[in-house]
Amino acid sequence: MKTELLRLLRGVDGYVSGQELCRRLGVSRTAVWKAIRQLKDAGYEIEAVQNRGYRLLGVPDILSETELKSIRRTEWAGEEIFCFPVVDSTNTKAKQLAEEGCPAGALVVAERQEAGKGRGGRDWDSSAGSGIYMTLVLRPDIRPDNASMLTLVAALAVSAAIENRAGVSAGIKWPNDIVLNGKKVCGILTEMSAQSDYVNHIVVGIGINVHNEAFPEELAQTATSLWRETGMHCNRAALIGEVLWQFEHFYKIYLRTQDLSALAEEYNGRLVNLHRKVNVLDPEKPFEGIAAGITPRGELIVDTDEGSRLVSAGEVSVRGIYGYV
Ligand code: BTN
Repeated sequence: MKTELLRLLRGVDGYVSGQELCRRLGVSRTAVWKAIRQLKDAGYEIEAVQNRGYRLLGVPDILSETELKSIRRTEWAGEEIFCFPVVDSTNTKAKQLAEEGCPAGALVVAERQEAGKGRGGRDWDSSAGSGIYMTLVLRPDIRPDNASMLTLVAALAVSAAIENRAGVSAGIKWPNDIVLNGKKVCGILTEMSAQSDYVNHIVVGIGINVHNEAFPEELAQTATSLWRETGMHCNRAALIGEVLWQFEHFYKIYLRTQDLSALAEEYNGRLVNLHRKVNVLDPEKPFEGIAAGITPRGELIVDTDEGSRLVSAGEVSVRGIYGYV
């Protein structure tokens, strides 16, 4: 009922009368009043004016199920939401929920992670209140060898969502780091449970640095936050809502062909490596070249003196010649 109440308050520019709220929610005046008080206790600024009704003036930066559901615009992503003050890792939690049979689109969100996981077995800095730690459960009917492309789909979604909500141009460092002004603002970790020819589930974990004022010394040169780049505090729930919305959009396109053929142009338009010199950190034999965009399967095309080479996501990492990007 609080979710619906918030939706109604959000849906109008001015006041909604108590009577109208009772009618729309099918509850008594006392019930509306109680719910309003609970929302105020949670940090919502709601003005109550006699003979006019209630007006929403301010929203706290909280990640509750009520808040996330009240702003949800998607068809299936985030239909079930699990919010935790603290977890080991939202990916681990999402995998557990997926094993237990949660539906596709279930979303796990935490205020803090005690064992946040990054790519390549690294840790993901996950302190309380500063970032977004979210994981989406998917159950696509695709071949397991098409799954790695989903991480690029998620990168497109986050890049577009940051642009829309924070008003800054967010590039993608292949395959799936989101970059602002040459520094990483978001990382994505996709994990899959599959048989040889069948996907049980995939979890797409997204970590966005939102309010961080500073980073540990080892990250200071390569990491940034939305706050550091824009000087503004982006509402985390609104950004999560936008990520889900964008993800649904790009995922639908991906599922039609089960590759990135219809998304490569958009992806390349956001690729910060495009036409730049990159160092491919192939453990067997590193090499340099010019990044020339992605193939429909999400591989990075690198033009070298010996011709074009394709680099697969997940196998190697790519660094700019003069820095992280
Ligand atoms: C990277 O190394 O770039 C990937 C980082 C992914 C971090 C996110 S935070 C939410 C989700 N839960 C995790 O444990 N990791 C991902």
